[in-house]
Amino acid sequence: MQKSPLQIARASYQPKVPRSLRGNMRLVEGEPTQSVADQEEIKKLFPNTYGLPVINLVEGEPQDFPVVNVGVILSGGQAPGGHNVIAGLFDGLKRLNPNNKLYGFLGGPSGLIEGKYAELTADVIDQYRNTGGFDIIGSGRTKLEETWQFDNGIEVCRKLGIKAVVIIGGDDSNTNACVLAEYYLQKNAGIQVIGCPKTIDGDLKNEMIETSFGFDTACKVYSELIGNIQRDANSAKKYWHFIRLMGRSASHIALECALQTQPNICIISEEVQAKNLTLNDIVDQIVDVIVARANAGLNFGTILIPEGLIEFIPAMKKLIAELNDLLAHNDDFTALETDDEKRQYIKGMLSEESRAVYRDLPKGIAHQLTMDRDPHGNVQVSLIETEKMLIEMVAKKLAKLKAEGVYKGKFSALNHFFGYEGRCAIPSNFDADYCYSIGITAAQLIASGKTGYMSLVRNLTAPSDEWIAGGVPITMMMNMERRNGKMKPVIQKALVDLNGKPFKFFEAHRAEWADEHLSYIYPGPIQYYGPSEVCDQPTHTLMLEHEK
Ligand code: FBP
Repeated sequence: MQKSPLQIARASYQPKVPRSLRGNMRLVEGEPTQSVADQEEIKKLFPNTYGLPVINLVEGEPQDFPVVNVGVILSGGQAPGGHNVIAGLFDGLKRLNPNNKLYGFLGGPSGLIEGKYAELTADVIDQYRNTGGFDIIGSGRTKLEETWQFDNGIEVCRKLGIKAVVIIGGDDSNTNACVLAEYYLQKNAGIQVIGCPKTIDGDLKNEMIETSFGFDTACKVYSELIGNIQRDANSAKKYWHFIRLMGRSASHIALECALQTQPNICIISEEVQAKNLTLNDIVDQIVDVIVARANAGLNFGTILIPEGLIEFIPAMKKLIAELNDLLAHNDDFTALETDDEKRQYIKGMLSEESRAVYRDLPKGIAHQLTMDRDPHGNVQVSLIETEKMLIEMVAKKLAKLKAEGVYKGKFSALNHFFGYEGRCAIPSNFDADYCYSIGITAAQLIASGKTGYMSLVRNLTAPSDEWIAGGVPITMMMNMERRNGKMKPVIQKALVDLNGKPFKFFEAHRAEWADEHLSYIYPGPIQYYGPSEVCDQPTHTLMLEHEK
């Protein structure tokens, strides 16, 4: 592999870890825990892993640990720092016993089921320290939820002498890690399961998990790009930039980028839902800002749009649900030949309310809603180009206002979508340090015989010396939710809290960011070397959430 000078320099970066993880460790167990909700149901479903105590790791005495072979899986979308979780896990295991071995299951959870693996030796690990990407073993989105998959896993682990599996994933993957841990205990399989909190989306967080890894780096990359665009907009003074940001469902990424860059407008899906806004309401809000800025002679600006917006607009959600039902295995619809026939057919079948929403959509988007479906028959919302849809609708409204003499500006818009640009970036110092610490912690939890736990590193706004490492029972984060028509135990997904400090800060400042006074911030690229206030700062979201 040919390497850039930065890659070469980063290979020797030594991640900073909390004091407690630097030498010998000892576990301190807290009180028994409860799940966040639905305690009786969760307890019944997880009789062996329910109620376990939260664990803290503290400095301890040297101890002899027996040899253990461990398997690791990367699950779901890439997030910066995944390689460092594996490097931390590897170093942690080797420190406990140099004969410990680490296997990587290839291509995500399917690697465990199909027995596809590679041993991760020091030579391999050293190639990937402090790098972005998940390419060391690859990732995948196969869900581990069926007993035949779990049983295959037992066979594969027995063959390799694996006594513990570490699953690095988001809320769903960690839910499945817990189901797997419980199943292996019930079966007496002798295989521990430990989860690690990953996702750029930032929606795997709660009372114990302060942030998922990757969120920090991804937001910093997007914020750099947004800042650059803002500087261009403020130089050329001729474009409105509509920027859609990844984050499947929650708007944490959009909100964090807004806090870092202070755009003229940022839409927060959770607020749209709470206020029951329609698509036209959102268009009106954008138009109001554009008109006001035009009146001040400013025909440019930036608008951040969260990827999941469409599904948070109540009327759109209803329309999408109706379309999903209507078009599932619908031969009459498939037999129709022209787009126009299809459009008329759909209009005839929708409820009155959804028909009105469908009719008002730009034709291209309406078409997209009926075309791109996932294997479960659902609209693939992430493929909907919301930023283009909004440009079209805003342009139409402005043209109307112009004709009425209300708007005298000039509207030229450009669209952007930032997602893949950030998911495999070289991890920031924060993510490099955090991930490496998560990995070492996972090794210690394994050596201490724990299962059904998520590796936990918290107190993240303090210097890394003072971070607190340990484990949180996954059942503690669970509640019952309806999934595919059935009630299931799942880790609660964290949406943007409209009463939380990050949103409140944004809400208090957005009007001044929208007006004619220049408020843009240009964060610039992630810095890996230099003063700590430039290189080691966590996200604004984390800082505000932990502000006393
Ligand atoms: P995870 O939740 O698995 O970490 O994935 C995050 C994400 O990047 C979302 O932000 C995005 O909607 C999705 O993955 C895209 O998935 P894909 O890589 O399969 O296109």
